[in-house]
Amino acid sequence: MQLGPHLLTPLRPEMPILTLAPMAGVGNWVFRLICARLGARMVGVEFINCRTIAEGSRRAERLLDFGDAQIYGETGISLLAAQIYGNDLGLIAAGAQEFERRGAQVVDINFGCSVPQILRKGCGAAYLRDLDRLYQAVRQTVEAVQVPVIVKTRIGWDAESINILEVVRRVEDAGAKAIAIHGRTVVQKYQGQADWDWIARAREVASIPVLGNGDVFSYADALRMQAHTGCQAVMVGRAAMGNPWIFAGRRGASLRERIELAVEQVRLMGQYKGERTGVMETRKHLALYFRGLPRTSELRLRILRAETQAGLVAVLEEWAESLPADIEADLTLSEEEAAALGWGGNG
Ligand SMILES: Cc1cc2nc3c(=O)[nH]c(=O)nc-3n(C[C@H](O)[C@H](O)[C@H](O)COP(=O)(O)O)c2cc1C
Repeated sequence: MQLGPHLLTPLRPEMPILTLAPMAGVGNWVFRLICARLGARMVGVEFINCRTIAEGSRRAERLLDFGDAQIYGETGISLLAAQIYGNDLGLIAAGAQEFERRGAQVVDINFGCSVPQILRKGCGAAYLRDLDRLYQAVRQTVEAVQVPVIVKTRIGWDAESINILEVVRRVEDAGAKAIAIHGRTVVQKYQGQADWDWIARAREVASIPVLGNGDVFSYADALRMQAHTGCQAVMVGRAAMGNPWIFAGRRGASLRERIELAVEQVRLMGQYKGERTGVMETRKHLALYFRGLPRTSELRLRILRAETQAGLVAVLEEWAESLPADIEADLTLSEEEAAALGWGGNG
């Protein structure tokens, strides 16, 4: 898949190209790096409001830390796609320039967020009701930066106004280099099932690459999504949270691998955020790696009580020792589990 100057290839020839969806509160740079190392060919940064960037707050600084982008630049293992949203086209273009300055290899514009407060302000998926404005937002951003601009959206506002085919045409005309499509309408939020048929239709009419998104819970689902839609890449969101091995085309990982990954994540977060904040921010994430294994509720409690990096590692090691070493758990996310991970209807 060609994205401006970048050629994205699958990790192995028989695999689809897999990318990490932007996820607020999840996609910090350590987690992105972990997914990239395992095989995600592009990793999404959680969305950032164009005004937050313009204000230059501490929060903005934290969100704009694209430390991993430099690693991708040097190693070529992945691309960092920083995502912007907002209702001020000038600020979106300026924010995209800031992304570029900070090393993002791709700028992604969010036209998919369905959180009511965001829609009310004319941001996110609100653009699906005004395609001239959507066109202008993409056009101005494309003109402002050198890096490829992509968009992420849903299939339409509601079942009666599905307009993804028109959206594809407009974003192409405006100069976007790819489109990621979450196969749900805005009013659906996370309900029902993602409609892969619309992704397939969009793929048929599109002359830019289509990234299919929605309800890929396992690697097998990623293969099905690609076969069903013909999309050039599969974008994985919730399933990656507990199972970044999905990017390696794997069903799961051994207990030892999971422990090692969890320890590595704690270590990198400590290095990145300082021990205390690193531990606090990683704790919630870690239990997801051990879903499906025995005594995880006890483990979760102990993880949540750990306050130091060494304490957290000790909890993981002790718990692992109490389990049979050859244990394998099914890491496939069930639809119920995925629904529980859903986040306020974003995307
Ligand atoms: C916790 C969480 C945070 C999300 N944050 C964003 C975001 O910042 N930007 C965005 O475009 N989509 C966001 N989404 C939507 C996902 O990128 C994705 O489109 C959606 O989860 C469907 O894909 P999935 O079925 O693979 O999870 C978020 C989803 C979740 C679960």
